Amino acid sequence: MAQCRHHPLVLLCSLCVFLPSILAQTPEFKLPLKAVNLGNWLVTEGWMLPSQFDGLNGQLLDGTQVQFMSTHLRKFLCAEGDNIVADRDRAASWETFRLWRISNTKFNIRVFNKHFVGLKGPKIMVVAVSGTPSASETFDIIRNPDNPSRVRLRASNGLFLRVKSSKVVAADNNNRTTWDDNDSSVFEMNTVGGLQGEYQITNGYGPSIAPQRLRDHWRTYITDREFQFMAANNLTAVRIPVGWWIAYDPTPPKPFVGGSLYALDQAFTWATCYGLKVIVDLHAAPGSQNGESHSVSRDGFVEWGDSSIQETVKVIEFLAERYGNRSALVAIELMNEPRAPDVQLEDLIKYYRLGYEAVRRYTQDAYVILSNRLEPDNPQELLQFARDLSRVVIDVHYYSLYDPKFKQWNLQQNIGYIYVDREIDLSKITQTNGPLIFVGEWTSTLAFDGSTKEDSRRFAKAQQDVYGRATFGWGYQSYRCQFDTWSLEQMIEDGLIKI
Ligand SMILES: *[C@@H]1O[C@H](CO)[C@@H](O)[C@H](O)[C@H]1NC(C)=O
Ligand SMILES: *[C@@H]1O[C@H](CO)[C@@H](O)[C@H](O)[C@H]1NC(C)=O
Ligand SMILES: *[C@@H]1O[C@H](CO)[C@@H](O)[C@H](O)[C@H]1NC(C)=O
Ligand SMILES: *[C@@H]1O[C@H](CO)[C@@H](O)[C@H](O)[C@H]1NC(C)=O
Repeated sequence: MAQCRHHPLVLLCSLCVFLPSILAQTPEFKLPLKAVNLGNWLVTEGWMLPSQFDGLNGQLLDGTQVQFMSTHLRKFLCAEGDNIVADRDRAASWETFRLWRISNTKFNIRVFNKHFVGLKGPKIMVVAVSGTPSASETFDIIRNPDNPSRVRLRASNGLFLRVKSSKVVAADNNNRTTWDDNDSSVFEMNTVGGLQGEYQITNGYGPSIAPQRLRDHWRTYITDREFQFMAANNLTAVRIPVGWWIAYDPTPPKPFVGGSLYALDQAFTWATCYGLKVIVDLHAAPGSQNGESHSVSRDGFVEWGDSSIQETVKVIEFLAERYGNRSALVAIELMNEPRAPDVQLEDLIKYYRLGYEAVRRYTQDAYVILSNRLEPDNPQELLQFARDLSRVVIDVHYYSLYDPKFKQWNLQQNIGYIYVDREIDLSKITQTNGPLIFVGEWTSTLAFDGSTKEDSRRFAKAQQDVYGRATFGWGYQSYRCQFDTWSLEQMIEDGLIKI
């Protein structure tokens, strides 16, 4: 191994390719780990590299949240109740519609209670009663070429939606339009939210473009060079987010794209060569466990639950079977950041038990990582359960970002919070004979305005001090990102973080 590490890069690569079995002698490793997350590699996170979406600019992608104001009535469409009405002065949850993209112009339209907008009865009333979309729940969004936020909605019967009165919206208009305000079939469409994850990029580019595009990204974003950089800078592990469809590679269900499994195989080869450990992290579970882009939600809803457990365990089984005997494997994380209360503790524990057993069918050595829920009432909620299992780890993510207090505080206050409050948070979950603790995600990004790189240097140092005491280790978020402080590579290159 030592020889491998000191060879010049080019020679190194060939060694890695041709000698994996020789190099696979189990290298010693020490806890706690110093890891980095390979975010936006095998699971797209558009905010880290927006240029991935450049070819989709201006398009309506899955999960785009829109509100429709009738230009005729100056009222918003609303889905509260079975019928769609047009009587709201302001738009909030019931006036917000989530798009499922069928094509560039065709969409299913989902409302706040997860029903789909569709048609009903001889008067072709517009309703939201169906739980699953079919032809009658499919609409063309026709945009005014001169003003794309001005739209008409053509229903499956070929006619346009029209506000007949504030209480009656029907699909019965067959007029041409001059896009006048007084046309009752014209709506002003405001976009109020959206996602940039794997679902959006694959379904956005579609089957003719997405496969090549994603494979090019996987091949170039992280290579053996990056693994060498990590090892040379004293990192000891990588946490690699993967999506559930990897288990169906090379022909995953639509719209997902095959090839991430090959990339993960490569990661194991490189990790073995450079003496790094791998944490395989199921970041996106079927149905989405937190509604975020990175859990590959189609529209922002959390739909992982009891009925998804079996399918999710199959994914863990697949990963454990494939990598369970690889010396580079240090842990399998069963699921990243399930959100409370949408993901119920009872379902989660049932899954964690079955997932743990699936891993143990293939390896006794690998740790099994259980992510704490996001926003749990009680951060100790998994400890009792974890006590009965061997080589388990609780993963907690510590960001000083999403609570407004962090934005109001200055650097000293933010650093003080790490040394005092985070230290207490950690000690609360660290128990003798309990599971190990992993601060699997943290960043040197600060929430307050005008923070400098020097501030981030000091903030990172404080976190390394405190999270360095986490018994399993820590994982920086992320390896690479458009924002320097989110990029460990950049922070190291700038001399701001030393490991
Ligand atoms: C548009 O269509 C509706 C219903 O089909 C009809 O009542 C109305 O008169 C039409 N308006 C124009 C300007 O043609
Ligand atoms: C809208 O108003 C214009 C005049 O402002 C009128 O010419 C036109 O016929 C109206 N259209 C409809 C659909 O009522
Ligand atoms: C790696 O760690 C060693 C031992 O602590 C230290 O001497 C060295 O400077 C570190 N290397 C880098 C590149 O940070
Ligand atoms: C690892 O497991 C695979 C399949 O389970 C098997 O083909 C391979 O020989 C094993 N390798 C080692 C080093 O045990």
